[in-house]
Amino acid sequence: MRQLDIIHGGGVAIKKGKIVGVGESNKIKQKFKAKKRIDARGMVMTPGLVDPHTHLVFAGTREQELALRLGGASYKEISAAGGGIMSTVREVRKAKPEQLKSLALRRMDQMITYGTTTAEAKSGYGLTLLDEIKILKVIRDLNRSHQLELIPTFMGAHVVPEEYTHKREDFINELVKTMLPEIAKRRLARFCDVFCEEGAFDIGQTRKILNEGKRYGLIPKLHADEFTHTGGAELAAELGACSADHLCKLSEEGIRRLKDANTVAVLLPVTSLFMGIESQGLGRRLIDGGVAVALGSDFNPGTSPTFNLQLVMSLGCLLYKMYPEEVIVACTINAAHACGCAQDRGSIEPGKIADLLIWRVHTYTQIPYFLGQNLILKVIKKGRICLTGLQVANNIRMT
Ligand code: NIG
Ligand code: FE
Repeated sequence: MRQLDIIHGGGVAIKKGKIVGVGESNKIKQKFKAKKRIDARGMVMTPGLVDPHTHLVFAGTREQELALRLGGASYKEISAAGGGIMSTVREVRKAKPEQLKSLALRRMDQMITYGTTTAEAKSGYGLTLLDEIKILKVIRDLNRSHQLELIPTFMGAHVVPEEYTHKREDFINELVKTMLPEIAKRRLARFCDVFCEEGAFDIGQTRKILNEGKRYGLIPKLHADEFTHTGGAELAAELGACSADHLCKLSEEGIRRLKDANTVAVLLPVTSLFMGIESQGLGRRLIDGGVAVALGSDFNPGTSPTFNLQLVMSLGCLLYKMYPEEVIVACTINAAHACGCAQDRGSIEPGKIADLLIWRVHTYTQIPYFLGQNLILKVIKKGRICLTGLQVANNIRMT
């Protein structure tokens, strides 16, 4: 993760939305005749950023919970009082698909300006078959209407909805017997994710849901060991999950198991900052333990109201003690692995989709350094510039 294979004075040749040549700029110019050229002299080019963990489709906001937490309330207490995930579920159930779509489109317009060219997107704010289908269909529809590409995850096991409070096992049966087969039959999701946490789903329930999902061809992912240590990382390894996410409270044994299982650790530093979950140095521990680490935004209205992966990279350094090279790998190729699309994304290589960013910095180490600023000059999605000179003020290199 510390090796970036930098090409100084590099160039990229693109044909029909794909990368066909990478190398020293002069050689690329000799080898390929271009109809159009993009000048990136003095700047830095990287692959487009991949966000491997978002809850993109929702309605409503929950800013009141920030003040409640500042007053000392915990996430659990807020949920117990009718806030939290369930309050967003109520909003989403009320919302029409067109409303969810237009909210998400506005967010995607913003995300792409921060350099995100592919993102995973979870359902999980519906929690009935019809509402989960509604969300996943919105995600499918968004994919057809926006350049930013989305990879869908079914997360019907986000929490047990309030109407099932006194019959939790019935909800799990509904998930396993009705929702999973129907979602799979309609090909609405690639992954299945479960919030494995005290107050959500325990280890046994998570194992059951994800194993059933696997039978229907849905690849497992887990929200694991986030607020408490439940052994979610060990379970992710046992199931051969594609990724284990959050992991603030994982054990040393969890690290060894993730490494042996080749499961990607998706870390979400904005969430730990926003929720005050102690997890300093988490990235360092995992990388030093031999685990592939990706970083994501966890964009959602409760615990991470941002989709800015540049901020995520800075926090990867500052909170999780990762090096600049590592946070770049974590938001590109490793993130692509965490959403099962590394064969055609996440690096600048011939044959891959031409998703590229031009940054207004003169060295990549400035990317996590200029904290809290949008450093993107141009976004190239499938070989097309979708953004030129973002804002006039942004059209200059930082130094
Ligand atoms: O990833 N942890 C569970 N799910 C989200 C939070 C969702 C919410 O609070 O609305 C997360 O942090
Ligand atoms: Fe999440």
